Amino acid sequence: MTRRDQMLDALAIGPQWQHRDAAPARLPENPNLSLLPDTEMTMEPAAASPATAADVAGRHTDADIAGMDWNTLQDAVGNCTRCNLCRTRTRTVFGAGDPKAKWLFVGEGPGRNEDQQGEPFVGPAGKLLDNMLAAMALRRGSNAFIANVVKCRPTDASGKDRAPSPEEVAACKPYLARQIALIGPDIMVALGKTAAVALLACEPSIAVSKLRGVVHRYGELPLVVTYHPAYLLRALVDKRKAWEDLCLALDTHADIG
Ligand code: URA
Repeated sequence: MTRRDQMLDALAIGPQWQHRDAAPARLPENPNLSLLPDTEMTMEPAAASPATAADVAGRHTDADIAGMDWNTLQDAVGNCTRCNLCRTRTRTVFGAGDPKAKWLFVGEGPGRNEDQQGEPFVGPAGKLLDNMLAAMALRRGSNAFIANVVKCRPTDASGKDRAPSPEEVAACKPYLARQIALIGPDIMVALGKTAAVALLACEPSIAVSKLRGVVHRYGELPLVVTYHPAYLLRALVDKRKAWEDLCLALDTHADIG
C-alpha cells in the first residue's frame, strides 16, 4: 500500500479512491447519474424591500470592484448590498486560506453553519473537503484558498439552504473575479454545478458528470470540475470519480511545472 493509499484509508475514503495513470481522454458517459442539487433548494430570491442608505453605500459597481485591493475587497464584501441576500445573512463569507495560493477551490455559497461562523465549508461537507485537500497534500491556509460563488447564504421561504439564483450569482460574480485576479492561482477546482456553471458560463442545466474528466479554461487558467462535497456525502459511489478529478487536477498542476 502506498503512503497516499494509507492516508486515504485513514480518511475512510481510501478503498474507493484509486489514483489512475492518466486523465480520461473524453467525457465520461453516465446517463444514469442525475446530480442532486448542492443544497436543498427552491429558486425564489429573498423578498425585496425598499433600499436604505446603507444599501446604496454597499452597492459598489463592477468597475469599482475590479480595481480593489484585497483588504478593500474584503470590506466591500462585508458591507455588500448588491442583492437581497444581504437582508437575510448573518455574516458574509469572503473565503479562507492563503491569499497567494496556487490552488483555488470554488464552492457554491454559504449554508447555515457558514452563515453563523463567516467561514466557508465548516460543516460535514467542509470536513470532507479538508480530507480531499489532505489527500492532495494541501491544507486551507497553505497553498490553497477556498472561495464561493456567492458570499451570503441563500435561503428559501422556510429558512432552508437553497442554490443561489442566476441574479444572485451575477451580483456576486465581480467579487469572485477579483479574488481570482488577486490570488493569481495556477489552477482552479470547481466544486459542484453552481461553481462550474458560474465560472465556465455554461448552460445551467448541464450535469457535473458532463463537465468532469477534462481540463477547462477560465481565461488562461486551467479549471477542473468535480462533485460538490455535500453531494459526495450523499453519493458515496461518486467519491472514486471525485478522486479521479483531483488526480487530473494534480497532474495538470504538475505539468505547469
Ligand atoms: N457549500 C458551499 O458550496 N460552500 C460553503 O462554504 C459551504 C457549503
